Amino acid sequence: MTDKKIMLTGFRPTGKLHLGHLHGNIVNMIKYQEQYENYFFLVDWHALSTEYQNPQNIKNNLIECVIDLVALGINPQITHLYRQSDIIEIPELTLYLSMITPLSWLERCPTYKEQIKELNSKDLSTLGFLSYPVLMAADILIVNADIVPVGEDQLPHLELTREIARRFNSLYGEYFKEPKELLSKATRVIGTDGRKMSKSYNNAIFLSDDYNTIKSKIRQMITDPERIHPTDPGHPEICNVFSFYKLYKDNNIKEIENRCKEGKIGCIKCKDEISEIIYESLKDFQLRRKEIVKNMDNIYKILENGKEHVRKIASKTIKEVREKIGID
Ligand code: TRP
Ligand code: SF4
Repeated sequence: MTDKKIMLTGFRPTGKLHLGHLHGNIVNMIKYQEQYENYFFLVDWHALSTEYQNPQNIKNNLIECVIDLVALGINPQITHLYRQSDIIEIPELTLYLSMITPLSWLERCPTYKEQIKELNSKDLSTLGFLSYPVLMAADILIVNADIVPVGEDQLPHLELTREIARRFNSLYGEYFKEPKELLSKATRVIGTDGRKMSKSYNNAIFLSDDYNTIKSKIRQMITDPERIHPTDPGHPEICNVFSFYKLYKDNNIKEIENRCKEGKIGCIKCKDEISEIIYESLKDFQLRRKEIVKNMDNIYKILENGKEHVRKIASKTIKEVREKIGID
């Protein structure tokens, strides 16, 4: 056992990874990899809460995500990489937590209302979907995580996790820590249509996109609508293309801002430049990925090791939780 703080994050394996994932929680997981004890997992049960009618892609997507993570630099030697559904202690903890979670906490959760509206083609009036945040609380509390890198949209869930932990502690005695979020610099990466980048909105730049694909996606983006000629003074602060420059060229952002404001560059040129920068930043990843898929056994082995380690911790938590409640 180390006395390092525990950092944990997860995401839903709903498809290929895109820049929103990368700049959301993955960059932080990589940045702090050496400093903390890390848990990184793919939440296939959470995926099932919205994909229960079409679950056939979840497993494949999950494996693709693991390959992506390893190619990005998540080091399985120091980060426990695992699959949520391998940790069968999580549903037991979810059950205990669901006993003490008032329905009203879940019903008032902003993500719940929003998703029901956004994903209106799916029937989400299920118990599983309502209790999504309880399952997430169990994910986090099962390893008693200190720090949880998430995007801004997940903050209500983290708040609920803390409320549930407090409730448990006050009912059965101090046990769970209250985890803190770690927000990345880019808490909300914008997609090519100006909304949050998401596969389901069809506005994502994928980590596997080649230069021409990135270029044509960026070319479609709306810029400052007042700019007609390349020499018109622009307003980078309202331009979505500029938001990518902030992600990739933060250290000379003034220069990029000024050349737009002073009408020294046309939008097409400005767009192609950022496409190239994005593509360059992904090139190594794409090469590493090609190497990794040549030996898929390694990927399965990584998940096996993750499962073995995390289940040890999780079963200890369950034993202690049972004792705390008094049904041991
Ligand atoms: N709800 C998160 C999302 O949709 C995924 C998630 C599930 C998660 N369990 C977690 C994130 C635990 C951090 C910690 O992105
Ligand atoms: Fe946006 Fe670049 Fe055009 Fe300015 S020049 S409006 S930053 S695309």
